[in-house]
Amino acid sequence: MTFDVEAFRAHFPALSRQEGGEPVVWMDGPGGSQAPDTVIDAMAAVLAAGVSNLGGSFAASREASSIVNGARAAVADLVGATDPDAIAFGPSMTALNLALARAVSRDWGPGDELVVTRLDHDANVSPWLLAAERSGATVRWLDFDPDDGCSLGSIEEVLSSSTRLVAVTAASNAVGTVPDLGEIVGRAREAGAFTVVDAVHHVPHRPTDFADLGADALLCSPYKFYGPHAGVLALAESAWGLAPERIRPAPSSQPGHWEIGTASFEALAGVTAAIEFMGSFGEGSSRRERLVSALSAMDIHTESLANQFLAGIRDMDRITLHGIDDGRPRTPTFAVTVDGHAPADVAGHLGSAGIQVWDGHFYALEVLRRLGRLETGGVVRIGFLAYQTEAEVDRLLEALHEL
Ligand SMILES: Cc1ncc(COP(=O)(O)O)c(C=O)c1O
Repeated sequence: MTFDVEAFRAHFPALSRQEGGEPVVWMDGPGGSQAPDTVIDAMAAVLAAGVSNLGGSFAASREASSIVNGARAAVADLVGATDPDAIAFGPSMTALNLALARAVSRDWGPGDELVVTRLDHDANVSPWLLAAERSGATVRWLDFDPDDGCSLGSIEEVLSSSTRLVAVTAASNAVGTVPDLGEIVGRAREAGAFTVVDAVHHVPHRPTDFADLGADALLCSPYKFYGPHAGVLALAESAWGLAPERIRPAPSSQPGHWEIGTASFEALAGVTAAIEFMGSFGEGSSRRERLVSALSAMDIHTESLANQFLAGIRDMDRITLHGIDDGRPRTPTFAVTVDGHAPADVAGHLGSAGIQVWDGHFYALEVLRRLGRLETGGVVRIGFLAYQTEAEVDRLLEALHEL
């Protein structure tokens, strides 16, 4: 099926924002997406109708429970979890992963090993470095090759019979690499390691299938897939016995025991609305089928924009792309540098042309260190989402050409 980008765009009020008489080009999606009207309306409706806390014997409290349960079911469909109880919510992916790391590492000690990668956002690195520091476990680094499109090295080289954990990204938020996750998770499981997948940058771009992947934990962030600010932790049933830190009156079992404090019910209604919204652009008899179909169509659309961009910069001699340029799997997220211009100046130039992109390290500290750019202003990150158009990519190429 084809993806109707104009019908999709029509739902985003932020896309009509103007600067200097021109519509803003939001190519900052890897840092956060804009929200469609259905998400904004769903969140406002919760607040307007009145909402209460969980566990009360009256209608508004029962509505809060049904918002939470509805969001669990929607996220389960989105990430391919077979049971809504696999899904827990938190304020952010980072907060959830810090809690997960504390719970997973409770019985680690000297002699145990864990694997983190240099391709990951720090939210899937530091929680594990801290756990290693607390427990005395040894950290092994899975590296990537900057001269080979920032592809990840072989997991076999860092696994051993002592590996307790492998934490890996499903897609790099800095350079767009999509590693061979099936291979990594498969090998890690054979070695008996707990596997944690950071899918924050993957979920907005491609269908995600947590059950099929066989990982123990997968995390994502709705504000990257057209929803509000919140975090998601999906756990395989084998990990439901983990005991996160909690306060005494709080729920003591999966999934509620991860949800410390009161959730933002309006945000969770927005999460469901964002998932329904994406699914409405797909075909199929179930929501899961519609989501897979919509995300596949969006992927084809953004891949064509990515090819337009890559072809456009190919003859701009002073632009260097740090990442894959040969058809291997990647997201439409590009790290570039421009000879003779600091990344902040490039982003400033694009910003003054109404094109919003990020410069710096985007918390992907190890990626930028490995590229040798951590101390020199990082890179410029240009990210496309499904609402991007060919005309916007043309505007981007023109503005880069001016440099
Ligand atoms: C790949 C990746 N992982 C983790 C995070 C952290 O997510 P959160 O902001 O929900 O803590 C981000 C945020 O940019 C990200 O891009």
